[in-house]
Amino acid sequence: MSIAQNNETTAKLRCIACGDTPDSSSQDFRCTACGDLLEFFFPGWALDQLDGAKPRHHTDPLALKSLWLNRRHSRDALDQSGVWRFRELLPYIPAEHAITLREGNTPLYHLPRCARAAAVENLYAKHQGMNPTASFKDTGMTFAASSAHQGGFRWVACASTGNTSASMAAYAARGNMHSLVLIPDGKISWGKLSQALDYGALTCQLRTDFDGCVRILNDLVRQKPVYLLNSVNPYRIEGQKTAAIELMEQLAWEPPDHIIVPGGNLGNSSAIGKALLEMRELKMISRLPKLSIIQAQGANPFYRSVREFGGKKLEPMTADTLATAIRIGNPASWKKALRVLQATGGEVEQVTEVEIAAAKAEIGADGIGCEPASAVTLAGLKKLRQRGFVKAGGSVVLILTGHQLKDPDFTIKFHRGELFSGTDNERAAVPTKSLQRAPVVLEANLGAVIAALDAVERNS
Ligand code: F0G
Repeated sequence: MSIAQNNETTAKLRCIACGDTPDSSSQDFRCTACGDLLEFFFPGWALDQLDGAKPRHHTDPLALKSLWLNRRHSRDALDQSGVWRFRELLPYIPAEHAITLREGNTPLYHLPRCARAAAVENLYAKHQGMNPTASFKDTGMTFAASSAHQGGFRWVACASTGNTSASMAAYAARGNMHSLVLIPDGKISWGKLSQALDYGALTCQLRTDFDGCVRILNDLVRQKPVYLLNSVNPYRIEGQKTAAIELMEQLAWEPPDHIIVPGGNLGNSSAIGKALLEMRELKMISRLPKLSIIQAQGANPFYRSVREFGGKKLEPMTADTLATAIRIGNPASWKKALRVLQATGGEVEQVTEVEIAAAKAEIGADGIGCEPASAVTLAGLKKLRQRGFVKAGGSVVLILTGHQLKDPDFTIKFHRGELFSGTDNERAAVPTKSLQRAPVVLEANLGAVIAALDAVERNS
């Protein structure tokens, strides 16, 4: 079965490796000529640029910026979505197929304490955990689930470390589709698993890791009429682009010096980078922020690809990190991510388990919070700052990908000092004690509470 591309759109599919431009894609979203990934491109935009000094209306930067701003006052569901509001830069999907939970519209926060810890002047977080299912996945999922609806699919499916499955299950339910979730048994947080159950997915915990789940899913979609919703699906990438567009709007179209993202399967970095390049092509921004990608040291195949092999190849690995969202050893979108890393002049970094835990507590102490995988951004920023890649006066935006309540187990263990006890990291974690705020168990009397208060006052 093939998934037809909508003829009304100016968007076309193209293989990132051989450049083939198929009219439709197979169910695994791989190029039938060479097997690599597909992406959308917009041939009409280049024609617009050739049209002379004045761009035609549908890519006129000023007209689009004001149209998007005006939609914020609209009562229309699509205009209220922080994804569909920017639909002029996305492939066309008819409104009757759109499934939206009013995703996007996420806040941009100043992080004063974290800025001091990282020794940079202007530090902000775009909190994608403030989406309807509490992760950045919703921005891509609204768009890709809508394309499944348009294709008339009864079933959608994904392999996941937890957030994709939570998001997919929600959007499938809203669109009256069945969803099949493949997750690693015992290696995802309860918060994420509970979401998929509540939204009604058929949830299969496989005795393997994320990469093993992906292999089985790829075989499944070749045999069954099931629509694949992992980020190899180019509609996912298109929806996720809007986080960067919305960010630029929030910054009055004045790009920061740096944007820093966590790297797992590498769809998100690819999407944000694609949006930045497209916005520059359309003259919506005058320069490119440097897009840097941070991985956990125990799940660092992309870091090693860039540092050891100059991006020429990626060696899959068995991944291990407490930041379970990015416990991925064979990232599907590494070539797309490499391209945007090089095009924007960004860097790769890796961070340790202890650095992740400390950074997460620091983001929490700024009154924001995030899940462990998101905290690699702050930990990575500190390293990029130490290396001089990020300057003290530079402006930096961290993309926080998931909400703090996604993985409360990690947070509680950290504050109780149990996260690393009995592990190789126990000694390295000693300096993080000052960040720990374990609950205090007291007798139920006023004197005990006042004594606890006074003790903290004395030490602060
Ligand atoms: N942060 C969080 C919270 C995630 O859930 C993920 C990926 C990432 C970062 C990495 O993003 O894969 O686009 O590089 N989670 C996927 C999932 C794999 O199944 O939920 P990426």
